[in-house]
Amino acid sequence: MADRRQVLCLGALASGAPALLAVAGSPAQAAPAAAPAPRRRRSLVIGHRGASGYRPEHTLASYELAARMGADFIEPDLVVTKDHVLVARHEPEIGGTTDVASRPGFASRRRTVVLDGVSVTGWFTHDFTLAELKTLRATERIPQVRQHNTLYDGLFPVPTFEEVLELRERLCRELGREIGVYPETKHPTYFRGLGLDLETPLVQALRRRGLNRRDAPVFVQSFEAANLRSLHDDHRLRAPLVFLTSATGGPFGDPKSYAEYLTPGGLRELARYTDGIGPEKSQIIPREADGTLGTPTRLVADAHAAGLRVMPYTFRAENQFLPAELRSGTDPIAYGRALDEQVTFLRTGIDGLFTDQPDIGVLARDLALAPA
Ligand code: G3P
Ligand code: CA
Repeated sequence: MADRRQVLCLGALASGAPALLAVAGSPAQAAPAAAPAPRRRRSLVIGHRGASGYRPEHTLASYELAARMGADFIEPDLVVTKDHVLVARHEPEIGGTTDVASRPGFASRRRTVVLDGVSVTGWFTHDFTLAELKTLRATERIPQVRQHNTLYDGLFPVPTFEEVLELRERLCRELGREIGVYPETKHPTYFRGLGLDLETPLVQALRRRGLNRRDAPVFVQSFEAANLRSLHDDHRLRAPLVFLTSATGGPFGDPKSYAEYLTPGGLRELARYTDGIGPEKSQIIPREADGTLGTPTRLVADAHAAGLRVMPYTFRAENQFLPAELRSGTDPIAYGRALDEQVTFLRTGIDGLFTDQPDIGVLARDLALAPA
């Protein structure tokens, strides 16, 4: 067992692990663009920002809990510091997820930047060295929804990507199973414009950990297609890639809309350099005007026909995030019938889902496999 654990922690997909990441026939490898995807054995549960329903997001405590709850992958969003170190935050502005606003020594760092065409005021990771950032502590992003998470405010530092990868290795050794990492490059064009590209340290970190391989338990994701295309085309990154999409708009600085990327032709082109898509969940099952679930779209079938996996975001248990017919009572922050929502989506054939409550995702996956 000790040997097997050691292999797992080097990021290899040992026997038994292919259920986690079955990449055989992946279109970005060699398969013809229109080849149907191989049928996977089970959908992946991705701990969204860790187990962010139970701990402040993007902390090692959040990732660790996600893995212990059974998540197959942990998801760090990545931004960069002034000294070009990757850290896990959802956006470069850190006023909403750390205690920086209460630190008089950093008051003068507050400023306004234009981020992907939008004016944003606050404190930015790229104005802090890693040593400075490490003096801050994480706080709950949505305390009005997740008051219980404020218990942990002030306890946990902002982790580097290296620390997340280290944690992943320790946990897969301890738990005796593979735990994948699903990093997202946040605002890659913005950071490149600052001379602090995300891709170079990302590839270096994955390479150092033996994870820059086609069969690594890794998906690198981005809402911009350009950086994924370039990572694939110049052969820098060998790990699988996932293109994220929203129900509206398009990638920053890209004339093509997300809707255009998701046409059958657009999906075939995406399959040339990516392995999957991460759509907003409403792109799989839209909501009706009254907030109830509507009729599933063709997206899962079209993406599978192009050879792409489909792993939508984000599943959350609180009523305010659920379809109208699955809410329990009138309290917007009480839990509703989140299992029913996830089972419904899993039965559309999706290949995984991002959830803030990985324990619910794991249970939903089991339920979805039971006869309807
Ligand atoms: O990466 C999938 C999902 O996390 C995308 O949304 O905004 O939570 O990063 P966001
Ligand atoms: Ca993300």
